[in-house]
Amino acid sequence: MPKLKVLTTRRWPAAVEEELARRFDLTLNKGDEPMSQDVLAAAMGEYDVLCPTVSDRIDAEVINGGTRVKLIANYGVGFDHIDIAAAKAKGIAVTNTPGVLTDATADIALTLMLMAARRAGEGERELRAGAWSGWRPTHLIGSALKDKVLGCVGFGRIGIATARRAHHGFGMKVAYYGRRPCEPDVGRELDAKFYPNLKDLLREADFVSLHVPGGGETANLIDADAIASMKKGSYLINTARGGIVDHDALADALKSGHLAGAGLDVYPAEPAVPQALLGLENVVLLPHLGSANAETRIAMGMCALANIAAYANGEDVPNPVA
Ligand code: DGY
Repeated sequence: MPKLKVLTTRRWPAAVEEELARRFDLTLNKGDEPMSQDVLAAAMGEYDVLCPTVSDRIDAEVINGGTRVKLIANYGVGFDHIDIAAAKAKGIAVTNTPGVLTDATADIALTLMLMAARRAGEGERELRAGAWSGWRPTHLIGSALKDKVLGCVGFGRIGIATARRAHHGFGMKVAYYGRRPCEPDVGRELDAKFYPNLKDLLREADFVSLHVPGGGETANLIDADAIASMKKGSYLINTARGGIVDHDALADALKSGHLAGAGLDVYPAEPAVPQALLGLENVVLLPHLGSANAETRIAMGMCALANIAAYANGEDVPNPVA
């Protein structure tokens, strides 16, 4: 049997690339530059498996660019950059890499929460600019996390992992909004309060952390109205997808002081960062680092590889999304 032809659209960790190359007829994107829509569309006719990442837009035009690809094995858990309906219509399977990046992403949510609450970005900028005049009781005063309410919007794997860190590590109270209450043992462990109504959660939370998937259903979920419902002096943390937040409304709320701060790892049109935020001191801006530790990035690659291997063996793929 000839080996499957596999294309990875960006560089993956070396250990995963080596294993992919051993098992498949692998084409790497050696330069690690984003591929154009035309190149991606052409790849649909040249390979058996396409392995994109969040930085590729696998829209209907790309998907309809050729008929050879039968599996899109995404490197990452989120798949709002892939037109799932178009893939389904062509009988193309789509897989993702759930579970393996839960802890890393929750770690970044806490990083953002602490950085925003303790004004760490402002402090670092001040120090590097040579503008620090020394310790004083009123310098860069932030907010404590202990006893504050963390409101998770979405309470799946990453939301729960974030809440665990916040509750057990920092003494925060946990509240969440979702479609349904979480498993009773998780609710008891975290003493978590369920809000079936988003606005009710937003009114109660001192820190709102977003953990819903991106895409049509959640586009602009945190719009001007939702932001107005947030407590005065509260914080917004986003490690999910940029499209969930209206960034103009967020910038207005940060400028007016309605929100004390925000911590963002994701943006609607990456790598562009909404201009309105760049000049604000009270927002922490990270470049989509949620899953960026060595262990996690290897695990994500191995998870994608397991999906490809199952497909190659004619078995059910472990992580189907379509
Ligand atoms: C994902 O997996 O969806 C992340 O956003 C990329 O780390």
